[in-house]
Amino acid sequence: MEKLRTAVNKIAYTPKSQILSTLSPLHLSLIPLLFLSSSLYKVALSFRHTLHHIGFLRKHRLPVPVISVGNLTWGGNGKTPMVEFITNWLANDIGVLPLILTRLRILDLPLQGYGGADEAKMLQRHFDGKSVKIGVGANRSATAKSFFDRYGFIYPLEIACFKKQIPGVSDKIGVTILDDGMQHISMSRNLEIVMVNALSPWGNCQLLPFGPLREPLTSFSRAHAAIIHHADLVSDGSLSVIKSTILEANQFLPIFLSTMTPTHFFKPPNVSIILPLGAVSQKIVLCVSAIGSPNSLVQRIQKMGPLFVDRLDYSDHHQFQSKDIKVIKARLELLKNKFGSNPAIVVTEKDYDRDSEILGELEPFEVLVLCCKLKILGHNGCTEDEFKKLLIRCLS
Ligand SMILES: *[C@@H]1O[C@H](CO)[C@@H](O)[C@H](O)[C@H]1NC(C)=O
Ligand SMILES: *[C@@H]1O[C@H](CO)[C@@H](O)[C@H](O)[C@H]1NC(C)=O
Ligand SMILES: *[C@@H]1O[C@H](CO)[C@@H](O)[C@H](O)[C@H]1NC(C)=O
Repeated sequence: MEKLRTAVNKIAYTPKSQILSTLSPLHLSLIPLLFLSSSLYKVALSFRHTLHHIGFLRKHRLPVPVISVGNLTWGGNGKTPMVEFITNWLANDIGVLPLILTRLRILDLPLQGYGGADEAKMLQRHFDGKSVKIGVGANRSATAKSFFDRYGFIYPLEIACFKKQIPGVSDKIGVTILDDGMQHISMSRNLEIVMVNALSPWGNCQLLPFGPLREPLTSFSRAHAAIIHHADLVSDGSLSVIKSTILEANQFLPIFLSTMTPTHFFKPPNVSIILPLGAVSQKIVLCVSAIGSPNSLVQRIQKMGPLFVDRLDYSDHHQFQSKDIKVIKARLELLKNKFGSNPAIVVTEKDYDRDSEILGELEPFEVLVLCCKLKILGHNGCTEDEFKKLLIRCLS
């Protein structure tokens, strides 16, 4: 399964011009089938949109404003960090109680396997004990309804009366944030934010499963803002290509840039043991990750001044097994012999939350979990303040 997954991923992210030169015969033999499935998917997708458009399928409307954070492609693109960014701002600066609706993505794509539970767990851990509600379930309208029944809701929201005047957070739900909402067209939303991963924006531009797109690029016409995530990790040239592709689909769309800023490490199993980023300086580091864009982790660690960085990448949401631990340990031994000191393993929070137990098997090697938060990078007037103004407009 892992092999097939890697093969499909490779095909999806190989540009058309390089298909013959870079893909193996096995890869090439998969293309006709993938192409056919892509075409069927496209037909199903446009049929569903048409049904919604002509009002045959009803759209659910929630009694509070809905902000949707979605993505067009599969793979890591900062959706969950963006949900956290908006949630923290709403709860801490505006004083509104947010409800995050997310689901355990089990059947998103058969090849992805059981994915997404790690992100849901991470959200739960970060907001544990905070004034934020998290609803997990495949039927989001039903999940939302049960939360409104239990906690109540406020509408219309008088932002002005909350902002800085009343300390604390309202006890009734004031806004809903849809995690991964783009494909969830059956729910009306006030603001549609689309995340784009600068490191791998749209692969070969084909729909699933031939390519990584879950929606055609024309879907940008439904969006209110696009965020190019990991924008600091690509060249200005690549950034402008991404921007012009977005503007081609929707010429008035505000485009923001974002990145992840590392904040600290923690040392499992105790999440309260915090280490500064300098902890890896002058060290031998092995980055181990099963996330959408492993390059981002490696590049960030490299900036922290380690002596040497090695890496082991697994596919997104991969569940580490004992046999993987053996491979990782063998690599660690190799590094230890080569450099004469004990290497440290760095994983992301998502890897930690997917299965925190199994990381314990890496003893006696030191495991560090890198914690990051999303930051909006100002450019051309598209600053963090402008982004927040956009959110405010949607709420009031
Ligand atoms: C977006 O990214 C997530 C997380 O990386 C992935 O699991 C999911 O399938 C993608 N969702 C959409 C809507 O493309
Ligand atoms: C989801 O819940 C809503 C409202 O509770 C209900 O009307 C709808 O039929 C449900 N959808 C599915 C697919 O079960
Ligand atoms: C975790 O670390 C914190 C801070 O060092 C310490 O106060 C706490 O007792 C530790 N908890 C456990 C379960 O070891």
